[in-house]
Amino acid sequence: MTFSDTDRRWMGRALALARRALGRTSPNPLVGAVLVKGGRLIAEGYHRGPGTPHAEAVALERAGKRARGATLYVTLEPCSHTAKRTPPCAPRVAAAGLARMVVAMADPNPQVSGSGLAHLAATGLKVETGCLEAPAAALNAPYIRAMSTGLPWVTLKIAQTLDGRVATASGHSQWITGEAARRHGHRMRATHDVILVGAGTVRADDPRLTCRLPRGRNPLRVVVDSRLSTIPAARLLTAAPPGPTILATTDAAPVERRRALEAAGATVLELPASGDRVDLTALMRHLAESGHHRVLCEGGPRLSAALLSAVLVDRVACFVAPRLMGGDDARGAVGGPSPLTVDDCTRLTPFSIRRLGDDLLLTADVIR
Ligand SMILES: NC(=O)c1ccc[n+]([C@@H]2O[C@H](COP(=O)([O-])OP(=O)(O)OC[C@H]3O[C@@H](n4cnc5c(N)ncnc54)[C@H](OP(=O)(O)O)[C@@H]3O)[C@@H](O)[C@H]2O)c1
Repeated sequence: MTFSDTDRRWMGRALALARRALGRTSPNPLVGAVLVKGGRLIAEGYHRGPGTPHAEAVALERAGKRARGATLYVTLEPCSHTAKRTPPCAPRVAAAGLARMVVAMADPNPQVSGSGLAHLAATGLKVETGCLEAPAAALNAPYIRAMSTGLPWVTLKIAQTLDGRVATASGHSQWITGEAARRHGHRMRATHDVILVGAGTVRADDPRLTCRLPRGRNPLRVVVDSRLSTIPAARLLTAAPPGPTILATTDAAPVERRRALEAAGATVLELPASGDRVDLTALMRHLAESGHHRVLCEGGPRLSAALLSAVLVDRVACFVAPRLMGGDDARGAVGGPSPLTVDDCTRLTPFSIRRLGDDLLLTADVIR
């Protein structure tokens, strides 16, 4: 199906609206909707988060009777199922008397997956799908990943020197990058559902793992800690704002440590072990099942290596500072054993590049 420039412009507006709720909609997708009649915008809306009205419902509510004869641009197929707090959108769209509906993409949720579109087409509404599909899919990549694989979208965040080091041999790493890059790191926290680190980072840096932007949302904090070595006085338990901190562990964790950490406010999550460490795939499945689709890993070289080798990483966001650390014993960004040849490296898509103060942010997706 081909779409006109006008269609793409209105759908672009609907995508921009959807993006406004970035990081606030999980386990729901980001969705924007625009109603147009006679070439003019009559109403628009976006989904703000679970329990709030869906984008199409917001736009239709605002338009009232003016929706009759209009074209609805919506970034995702209207839902048709009732297994949620809000009523299904497809019947509401069908009842609005629209002339046409343009949809960016079908909903990968198996409970919807084409049935919303089929329902609407069966009512005689002209339904056209695929307008700006690629940017719509990119916007909802975490939702699509969770719906199609049961795993969350994982972004590996790294702050490194030009020679790929993330900490000195003594474990010192604060701060490799400058203020603008660190501020951007907080913006990234605000748009994710989970910040994940390993116990090694908690031991070395004692981080709070909070978003320090005014009104910035704090994601769920998760530490993989096979034997519960985190101390009850750790700042992520004592200095963090309300909200759970999960310590993901194995049955090798001593019961008395578990009790002390729970008394300090931690939520201890026992998971299967892989070798003698937390099974990261089991952790990811648990996170996706509990509605956490966007995971930001800020761990050290060991956790990064383990996530990459379990093929759990989707994107790498690498801040590069104009420093050279050197040292055979300094820590490289990704630990673990070296591959035999460069052909065995994890391959990434071409970088997108952003300058942040003196530093660069290089972003690329893992090629599977
Ligand atoms: N510049 C940066 O971007 C950056 C970011 C973070 C950290 N760092 C630096 O990195 C250093 C810490 O490195 P690290 O590698 O020890 O930290 P890490 O990767 O955050 O933590 C590793 C630890 O996580 C635990 N873990 C539990 N399950 C695991 C699994 N399945 N796979 C891997 N680890 C698992 C293990 O401890 P248990 O066996 O006790 O469970 C393991 O030793 C510090 O110096 C810190 O400053 C730098």
